[in-house]
Amino acid sequence: MAAKVIVMINNKGGVGKTTLTTNLGDGLGRLGNNILVIDLDPQGNSSSLLSPVNPERLGMNVGDLMMADDPLIHLGKCLIEETGFKRVNLLPANLRLDIQAEEIHMKMFNASFRLKKVVDEVKDLYDYIIIDCPPRLSGVLLANALACADHVIVPIESGDEFSISGLENVLVYVSRAKSQLNPEMATPFCLMNKVSRRTLGAKQTEHALRTRVSEKADIELLETSIPESVQAKNSLMARTPIISFKDNTAIADAIRDPADEVNHRVGGKPRVRGTGHKSKSNESTRVDAA
Ligand SMILES: Nc1ncnc2c1ncn2[C@@H]1O[C@H](COP(=O)(O)OP(=O)(O)OP(=O)(O)O)[C@@H](O)[C@H]1O
Ligand SMILES: [Mg+2]
Repeated sequence: MAAKVIVMINNKGGVGKTTLTTNLGDGLGRLGNNILVIDLDPQGNSSSLLSPVNPERLGMNVGDLMMADDPLIHLGKCLIEETGFKRVNLLPANLRLDIQAEEIHMKMFNASFRLKKVVDEVKDLYDYIIIDCPPRLSGVLLANALACADHVIVPIESGDEFSISGLENVLVYVSRAKSQLNPEMATPFCLMNKVSRRTLGAKQTEHALRTRVSEKADIELLETSIPESVQAKNSLMARTPIISFKDNTAIADAIRDPADEVNHRVGGKPRVRGTGHKSKSNESTRVDAA
């Protein structure tokens, strides 16, 4: 069966797009799925995490495939299969992608559909393709990501009161992309990240966000969420999946839960980790001590 394409998007920086792209990929891989991560962010953060070679030194990046008339010819030179994350392959990005995006925008008639051409070539090889996007809501890279999306996940920071107004902008953008580029795209999911219940203020903000997102018709809130954890940062620095970094901790569990939920809701696979009860404990757990 062809891969489900999931696009990780939010114009707000630092909300966890890259952390979730790579670790959700890892979690879904551990459930027996073959995963392709496409790094569509010229910052190359997913690539830094997954590539054994410094992304700036790579011969080819995903932009080269997007510019090629026949991407398959170059796929072998670009695809990284040894990522250190189980069953996770990578199409990497680096700073060159910025210039390539400009060129695609200026010179190509089907500028918004260049990535779709690449994705269509490899869709049968994977169960999920997860696309990490740059923190913006414009430009040819975002359009390319949404043109091939089956699903969109918008990570938001649980403790940030501005998350809701930011989310409104994302939803308007996604809805425009749906009508103009990709009518088949499903209703976006929202995933709460960095959930902390250390203070009353943090709890209240989380509760308010959760209520307001749940009330919205144009987005579905995932039941599971990711707690704020210093291990998330540490695993990033160690370039190791969170689950491997501290396998038996709450944060590792907290990655397994959304992976299980996504596998069920996007992939239609049976749930192996309960039906959301676990999320309740995730929401209320701060795991820095784990
Ligand atoms: N659950 C978490 N708990 C604690 N820290 C986290 C968590 N998730 C992400 N982080 C940290 O937040 C920072 C930003 O995360 P990340 O790079 O994934 O965000 P991003 O949305 O991809 O950012 P950008 O928009 O710049 O690409 C990183 O230092 C990461 O380690
Ligand atoms: Mg990122």
